[in-house]
Amino acid sequence: MKTVLTRSVQEAAQFIRSGGTVAFPTETVYGLGANALNEQAIRKIFEAKQRPVDNPLIAHISSLEQVSELVEEVPATAATLIDAFFPGPLTVVLKRSFRVPSIATAGLDTIGVRMPGNDLAVEFIKASGTPLVAPSANLSGRPSPTTWQAVLEDLNGRIDCILQGEPTDIGLESTVVDCTGDVPIVLRVGAVSIEQLRKVVPGARLLEAEEKIEIRSPGMRHKHYAPSARVVIVGKDAKLESSNAAFIGLSLPFGDILLAKACDSAEEYARSLFAFFRECDREGIETIYCQRVDETGIGAALMDRLRRAEAR
Ligand code: TXA
Ligand code: MG
Repeated sequence: MKTVLTRSVQEAAQFIRSGGTVAFPTETVYGLGANALNEQAIRKIFEAKQRPVDNPLIAHISSLEQVSELVEEVPATAATLIDAFFPGPLTVVLKRSFRVPSIATAGLDTIGVRMPGNDLAVEFIKASGTPLVAPSANLSGRPSPTTWQAVLEDLNGRIDCILQGEPTDIGLESTVVDCTGDVPIVLRVGAVSIEQLRKVVPGARLLEAEEKIEIRSPGMRHKHYAPSARVVIVGKDAKLESSNAAFIGLSLPFGDILLAKACDSAEEYARSLFAFFRECDREGIETIYCQRVDETGIGAALMDRLRRAEAR
């Protein structure tokens, strides 16, 4: 299969309309989209990514009206969160409509829905004329792509088209919140922080450690966000053994490092992390030292991704 690169929303949307797969930018990471109501098209996403079929996909919408094409009902707390955070890096999990093929949600009776806060993404979904299911546009297990070049690196020849946009703003995936119960529960921390959620719905909470073991969010069982290099989380004054190592953080440590990136803020750190992981792999780096950050705001999501990469 030849993968077409284009900056034209219309050209990219044509591939969706004919049942194909298109990678497109959002404000979090690049997604790999297909028509959310077309089972054959959705199957192609799992094949292209080599994604386990028990890992459900998020549906992406361009208008609030599209929520009703995907879900049975919108409970009051979900409506409050949608009102506060759509468009933006928040995914709400709701009871799925029977119209959505069950392969999209790995057989679950729920579906994650989000409206990206990125003009190109919204234009593209609109031009496609349908909600799109879209996981991150990487090969399963690799770091999510934050540039179209990273998508190409993983999926060239495996998908129909890449809609070329800018590098993504946030660089980490959306916050996923289960809204099917009385109290919203954060299944995956992301750019919308628990502090921000609680300002709108004070009862919102994180998953407890023991709940994480249950099958709340099936995808969380799978490997995620990992470069081939070993990831080691370090404190501020860490001394690094410097053979074939790289470093990313807020302040550079002492010692020789082959590849080092100092970021001005936790936001820049988050934005740069996955591209840095990929660069390290291309350079054959063995160990990536990642500096710990405060777990407030984007820092909580950043530490979550670092821990997953370290635990791989
Ligand atoms: O920022 C994002 O969310 C990006 C962009 C492309 O929108 N997408 C993304 O998709 O990160 P993906 O497939 O790589 O991660 C989706 C996560 C997985 O952990 C999955 O298990 C969880 O969301 N998820 C999706 N649907 C779910 C559902 N119905 N119930 C529980 N968890 C769900
Ligand atoms: Mg992913």
